[in-house]
Amino acid sequence: MTGLLPTPTLTRRQPLVDRLGRVHTYLRVSVTDRCNFRCVYCMPPEGLNWQPREDLLTYEEIGRLVGVFAEMGVQKVRLTGGEPTVRSDIEALIAQIASCKGILDLAMTTNGHTLARLAPRLARAGLNRINVSLDTLRPERFGRVTRGGQLTRVLEGIEAARQAGITPIKINVVLMKDENDDELFELVEYFAQWAQDTELRFIEYMPFGKRRHGTVPSHSLRDRLSQQYTLCAQPQHGTSAGPASTWTLAENSLKVGFISPLSEHFCATCNRLRLMCDGHLRTCLAHDDTPSLRDLLRSGATDHALEDAIRAMVYAKPDGHDAQINGGTHFEGVMTRIGG
Ligand code: 5AD
Ligand code: SF4
Repeated sequence: MTGLLPTPTLTRRQPLVDRLGRVHTYLRVSVTDRCNFRCVYCMPPEGLNWQPREDLLTYEEIGRLVGVFAEMGVQKVRLTGGEPTVRSDIEALIAQIASCKGILDLAMTTNGHTLARLAPRLARAGLNRINVSLDTLRPERFGRVTRGGQLTRVLEGIEAARQAGITPIKINVVLMKDENDDELFELVEYFAQWAQDTELRFIEYMPFGKRRHGTVPSHSLRDRLSQQYTLCAQPQHGTSAGPASTWTLAENSLKVGFISPLSEHFCATCNRLRLMCDGHLRTCLAHDDTPSLRDLLRSGATDHALEDAIRAMVYAKPDGHDAQINGGTHFEGVMTRIGG
């Protein structure tokens, strides 16, 4: 009989729309700017000038803000960083967000270094899906690119996530020109072993501040792959639809996604917002005009006032960016604070 009843609406209020009519249903939350790695494309060897603890949003504050966003139609949340698992008791935040009315999908992006130990706890707390960053399968190179990470630990972590049922697993790879782009086929062949629950995604290197590495355009990776594989376009749908263009390799059924912020701009369909670890709201990854929700929150604002402020910020979201493979503007700010 329930099929005859009207579908209940999850949101009481209007969706979060900007000037261009883009509807925002996806919130990425950077929980810390700290990390146990120092990836060459992300931070200098000595790390960054970490945000003081008191400047970070508390779990209670994040939970409250997620509730306000959910009231406005946000359905998907991704925890990111920095490395989210270096913040203590991350399971507590996961459990809090997982129980938030209206949040249908809770994911995390991690470097996987502590996942072998944490995966069962994350699953129990309510994490649905996980993305693991992994740029090379060669142990020595892995140590160099991450400046200290151990490849075997990450591979064990991926397996632990699989065993804990946090699937599908997406592996994020940043291929840089003449640094690790020679591993395209190795990565594909390795992850094809788990094609049923694992997707490989190649992300174009984005220059934050100075351009220090060469970006490999996605189309050149697809050209290389198509010499050995048949690439079948995969339609995108549902709350997990994102900026990746996804293909299935006919020969081994592996799904391969390409995220191409430089060569195939997806700004026109962007549905995401970023809550930075210090409580600023980044409506566009590339622009650093980010008003603070934390100050408003700490000055005693009601949910209603927070909602009005968020609506105004989202309405004013920039149209996009014009960064190109070899030019255009650079991205502004620090990736780990923003939350990739
Ligand atoms: N360009 C592209 N991807 C990046 N990531 C971190 N810094 C950059 C950058 N400058 C990736 C991480 C992670 C994802 C969130 O973003 O490897 O997988
Ligand atoms: Fe840490 Fe991710 Fe940055 Fe690497 S890319 S240093 S794992 S936050």
